[in-house]
Amino acid sequence: MAGSWLVTGGAGFIGANFVHTLRSARPGDRVVVLDALTYAGHRGSLPPDDAAGLLRFVHGDICNAELVATLLREHAIDTIVHFAAESHVDRSVKEPGAFVQTNVVGTYTLLEAARRQWLGGAEAAAGGAPRRFHHVSTDEVYGSLGAEDPPFHEATAYAPNSPYAASKAAADHLVRAYHRTYGLPLTISNCSNNYGPYQFPEKLLPLVIVHALQGKPIPLYGDGRNVRDWMHVEDHVQGILAVIARGRVGESYNLGGNSERTNVELVTALCALIDARFAADPALAARFPQAPPARGASCASLIVRVQDRPGHDRRYAIDASKAARELGVEPQWSLERGLAATLDWYLDHEPWWRSVMDASYRDWIQQQYRL
Ligand code: NAD
Ligand code: DAU
Repeated sequence: MAGSWLVTGGAGFIGANFVHTLRSARPGDRVVVLDALTYAGHRGSLPPDDAAGLLRFVHGDICNAELVATLLREHAIDTIVHFAAESHVDRSVKEPGAFVQTNVVGTYTLLEAARRQWLGGAEAAAGGAPRRFHHVSTDEVYGSLGAEDPPFHEATAYAPNSPYAASKAAADHLVRAYHRTYGLPLTISNCSNNYGPYQFPEKLLPLVIVHALQGKPIPLYGDGRNVRDWMHVEDHVQGILAVIARGRVGESYNLGGNSERTNVELVTALCALIDARFAADPALAARFPQAPPARGASCASLIVRVQDRPGHDRRYAIDASKAARELGVEPQWSLERGLAATLDWYLDHEPWWRSVMDASYRDWIQQQYRL
């Protein structure tokens, strides 16, 4: 039977990748995307609405209860995949209010709309298709690990350190409560750092690529030895689809990339990759004359140490054995292959990244780094 999906935040990085994969995997399903198109959301990351009405983009806010209720009812939504969020830790340090509003109040608004639509009134009495609300969350809810600590697992106590992480933790707790209290069919995934196509260049990995290509400084926070576990976005998308298809309702699943690296390791590896790409393809020097390898230097020469992020979590690492055991999913992308493919994507999609680096982006970079 064809499904009807509501994807919140589908014009953002992971949401857009999810929509592309979902449309290929389930071409007969209806997909409604609800996105407020904040600075991080881009209509151009998605295909246009199709004539058959199987892809519909709705420009709107997840905090708008009336709009959300109308979409659930009019499109007979049976699966909600909730990506919409304020997602950047550094912005949460500067302006936490938007994180509480979207990540906490917005998640509550969606949960409440789903409860009313799926569990109240005539529709519930009539039975109908199985339903699922999948909440996309982060490993940052677990806090920070020391070098020798075991990785986060699903029973690790929540200890969020940034306003972003605290807002996602609050949302996770609401999701859990709506399952326990009302029996709403919910699942949660907590994932490590994603990278890949359509990532907004405020996040470390695309920032390194676009700054290197333009010959701009590459800022490295503190001593550069913080550790993240890098996961290709397509592995995350497959993990979410597996949780929705085979995950147990009411459960959380950790998803990770099996690729822990210090930031300095990641940044220098990416710089070396860009240098090598310029050496192999002389046309790149003409396209990006400001990039150091266009004049025989290394992109690593652009790295500058900047002031550390306040409350900077030292290390994240994921124990994803529950997802492997119960769902049969494991990451397929090595970091080396993923970085090379991601660099290719940014080289092939210059109009996309130039279009998202608007005046507000330039203001953010200027204000954040003062470089
Ligand atoms: P993103 O910032 O790239 O995209 C967020 C999207 O949400 C944007 O399209 C934005 O316009 C939309 N949005 C924001 N506020 C909204 C609102 N009030 N109403 C409707 N739409 C709104 O984020 P991302 O990196 O794609 O992350 C997606 C989700 O995955 C988030 O919930 C994030 O917490 C989670 N997550 C991200 C990562 C990562 O590495 N990026 C890792 C684990 C979990
Ligand atoms: O772990 C999952 C989380 O990963 C997601 O929940 C978040 O939405 C996502 O933004 C990401 O959070 P991080 O803070 O880990 O990602 P970011 O790309 O901002 O930073 C990665 C690391 O690089 C971190 O240790 C901070 C450092 N950094 C970041 C930037 C932007 C730098 O050294 N320089 C930079 O300019």
